[in-house]
Amino acid sequence: MLGAMSRPVRIAPSILASDFGRLADEVRAAEAAGADMIHVDVMDGRFVPNLTVGPAILAAVRKATRLPIDVHLMILEPERHVQAFAEAGADNLTVHIEASPHLHRTVQHIRALGKTASVSLNPHSPIDGLDVVLPDLAMVLVMSVNPGFGGQSFIPAVLPKMRALHERILARGLSTAIEVDGGISAETAGAVTEAGASVLVAGVAVFGKPDYRAAISAIRDAARAPSSAGAQTPK
Ligand code: DX5
Ligand code: ZN
Repeated sequence: MLGAMSRPVRIAPSILASDFGRLADEVRAAEAAGADMIHVDVMDGRFVPNLTVGPAILAAVRKATRLPIDVHLMILEPERHVQAFAEAGADNLTVHIEASPHLHRTVQHIRALGKTASVSLNPHSPIDGLDVVLPDLAMVLVMSVNPGFGGQSFIPAVLPKMRALHERILARGLSTAIEVDGGISAETAGAVTEAGASVLVAGVAVFGKPDYRAAISAIRDAARAPSSAGAQTPK
């Protein structure tokens, strides 16, 4: 029984799909449209093929919004950079399990900086490596695409892993949220919330639409649909 399906769904628009030439306006528009947090994707050209933004751009986002800022570090050796991103205005810092050989230390470092810590899993990565750090995490970010680019197709094969993670969190009596990132839209939101996700990152499905408020509402409504319709408990 996945009782935490009643947890309120939070929508985190990813600025990766925004117009970077108007970044502050885009962030303000997402906030005005009902976003719950702003998701900032940091890529290093090594852990993932793409390069994006660093602490200076995060500081600009920080000035544009009062919403929590969720920083997704798709970088090797994230421990070298967490302090800079914390000082630039992150509220949550997510590191990848595949990029963090000293994951426990890095998680404690983030918490000592006064930020929440989260850990992300690539689509193929198992949940077992999380067990020791799970009580210290605000969120586990389950990637539903291979990270590096926006606008990719959702990978349904991650759904059983999300269900298993959700059951493990509930069995341990933890409050860790499951965040999902990649290919999330009104079409996929129902399946991921049914599998236990409560924080939905969406890039193209928000910033690629003409009306951000309608786009966020559509995702939120679709996410609510399974529980409000009394959908079956996922196996
Ligand atoms: C992908 C990033 C995502 C990306 C999602 O590596 O981590 O946050 O912006 O983009 P969409 O929602 O367009 O798949
Ligand atoms: Zn992301």
